[in-house]
Amino acid sequence: RKKITLATLRSLYKKDERITMMTAHDFPSASVADHAGMDIILVGDSLAMVALGMEDTSEVLMDEMILHCKSVARATRSAFTVGDLPMGSYEISPEQALASAIRMVKEGRVQSIKLEGGKEMAPTVAKITTAGIPVLGHIGLTPQRQNALGGFRVQGKSSDGAMKVLEDALALQQAGCFAIVIEAVPEEIARIITQKLNIPTIGIGAGAGCSGQVLVQTDMVGNFPPGRYLPKFVKKYGDVWGETLKAIEAYRDDVKSGQYPAAEHTYPALKDQIEAFAK
Ligand code: KIV
Ligand code: NA
Repeated sequence: RKKITLATLRSLYKKDERITMMTAHDFPSASVADHAGMDIILVGDSLAMVALGMEDTSEVLMDEMILHCKSVARATRSAFTVGDLPMGSYEISPEQALASAIRMVKEGRVQSIKLEGGKEMAPTVAKITTAGIPVLGHIGLTPQRQNALGGFRVQGKSSDGAMKVLEDALALQQAGCFAIVIEAVPEEIARIITQKLNIPTIGIGAGAGCSGQVLVQTDMVGNFPPGRYLPKFVKKYGDVWGETLKAIEAYRDDVKSGQYPAAEHTYPALKDQIEAFAK
């Protein structure tokens, strides 16, 4: 497959072909998403929870995001890559945000960045795009602001709320975002917003009317321990945790019983060598 660029994404959007996006946080998760033909791979700050075991995304640091961006970039041949700017790295000023975006591209080796927020972030988006770094917006439920939003709740349910999501989308488009993630917004609202924009929307918990979809890979492949709460919008396509558990249990049993390693996993020595050595 050819390398996906902004021009490719633009032409998918023009053709009305849905854009596929998936998170990845390391070399294997990026390599499998790339092989599966994802158009966009996002190094989401969700890695704080799904890969680093943190309580929420507010804890992950810029240096940690960069380390993971690098490993994803090394595995990605075709997909367009996006790095999530973590909380604290972009809210203070457009200058701070541009400095962080440059670090993520130069050190993290991703092709673009994502940041959370609506029209209040428009000057920041403009600043970053003017420097030649593409920006993906993120509106609706913005997890970095969960304390202010009162938790993980559907956004844009009231008509005021829906109007705010629309205004945010229009302001981000105007500021130069190449696409906008819309999270946890009723399907009809996200569909109308998508129709009113001339850049793609990427939905997560925003229904089928968006120009594309994104999911957190660990959630959709089922690579998490039992008891993890999954939002309503996640479809679990696999059971990677369960498969891995079975494999490791089988290994444990084989080692305990002496069945592993078998002859085919073992290096033979030469016969005369053994005889000389055993004396
Ligand atoms: O961090 C993340 O994984 C995200 C996606 C869910 C959009 O922001
Ligand atoms: Na994120």
